Amino acid sequence: MNETHFFNRREKLLEQMKEGAAIIASASHAFRSNDTEYPYRQNSDFYYLTGFEESNAVLVLTKTASEAKTILYVEAYNAEYALWNGAKLGLEGAVERFRVDEVRDVAQYPGEVKDLLREHVNLYIDLFDDSEVLRKAKTAVQELRETRGVKRHIRTYRDVTHLIRTLRLIKSSEEIETIRQAIAITAKAHHIAMRECHAGMREYQLQAAMSYVFLEEGAKSEAYGAIVAGGNNANTLHYVDNRAELRSGDLVLIDAACEWELYASDITRTFPVSGTFSDAQKEVYNAVLDVQLRVIEAIKPGVKRDWLQRMSEELLCDALVALGILKGERGALMEAKEHKKFAPHGIGHWMGLDVHDPCPYVDESGESLAFEPGMVMTIEPGLYFRSDDESVPKRYRGIGIRIEDDILVTENGYDNLSSMIAKTVDEIEAMCNQL
Ligand code: GLY
Ligand code: MN
Ligand code: MN
Repeated sequence: MNETHFFNRREKLLEQMKEGAAIIASASHAFRSNDTEYPYRQNSDFYYLTGFEESNAVLVLTKTASEAKTILYVEAYNAEYALWNGAKLGLEGAVERFRVDEVRDVAQYPGEVKDLLREHVNLYIDLFDDSEVLRKAKTAVQELRETRGVKRHIRTYRDVTHLIRTLRLIKSSEEIETIRQAIAITAKAHHIAMRECHAGMREYQLQAAMSYVFLEEGAKSEAYGAIVAGGNNANTLHYVDNRAELRSGDLVLIDAACEWELYASDITRTFPVSGTFSDAQKEVYNAVLDVQLRVIEAIKPGVKRDWLQRMSEELLCDALVALGILKGERGALMEAKEHKKFAPHGIGHWMGLDVHDPCPYVDESGESLAFEPGMVMTIEPGLYFRSDDESVPKRYRGIGIRIEDDILVTENGYDNLSSMIAKTVDEIEAMCNQL
């Protein structure tokens, strides 16, 4: 993506804004231990509008009846910082790189924010961000109220994240290409895991094999903490311990994926540790796969996530009856939420700059949004049977299966962006047994 893409996004945001100002801050550093930081990751909304990955930066947009203006505050060159950490882009670098009206030194922001807000009535911010940048802005709003001669004051704080995240819902072709790149690397990592897996390994060793691929291919980070769950551990939905031994005869569920240029992928595959599904595992696996394929097949413009959720619950409920795990009629079972015990999570979520992209799911009236071309959603049904659940036939106990792909809504239907990853029983067994 080049600077024109980020410029166009800012233009779209300005179009959506009433007259006023918007202030969007970069992410802060987070400490991991004493003075040691977590790897820095830019705030997704800030990145969406700037493509800038440095910390200590502020984007200010102002809009009046006659003009719109964009100012990017960045850190100026600092010799001491450069000695320890390398030089940041600096003011001159930012002027060349960003198509904004002005680049200014972030050290000036506290002294200038009052002027930037003078005579504006709307201030667009992240209403839940209490960073220093926004505290300074709010103090400026207060001071302006008390300043003689200022005729108009900020009277409304508006949620800028809602506007940005509504734009983020529809991915451009460049964004889709970036997501495809993340998925291509993730596909390679899942296939390596299938091929390298054997009984006696530890879950973290499979994770390491995947992380090697991510780093080797140039991905800077996982998109989220990897879940590598052997056997019954798959029934702990957010299992991230990844330290147990993988046992022959068990399945292993891997929900792991990398991020590429800050865009996520999100993939789950479940496969046999020793390369061959047992009959019981195959029965559950094919039941989940059938639900996944049917839900994906239903995706096209106009369809709503709520419908897919309902459809997936009905299909999973039917599967539970067919497997002999639930008994009774679907309507009554669903009414009593019996299926939720074995299929507790949602069918999928938006994906983009965040793995759980915080784009709206409903419109202004609370109605589920209809799909449009360019939206990307995961489809990830699962069935989970704990080893200690005596209500489940013995042969299924300890089996936990989820299958997750990343789906793009297209003009005519959908494109499964992760369709190259082994998924049928035959494909998985072939991959597991490939040398
Ligand atoms: N990996 C997180 C999720 O599947 O939602
Ligand atoms: Mn997911
Ligand atoms: Mn996932």
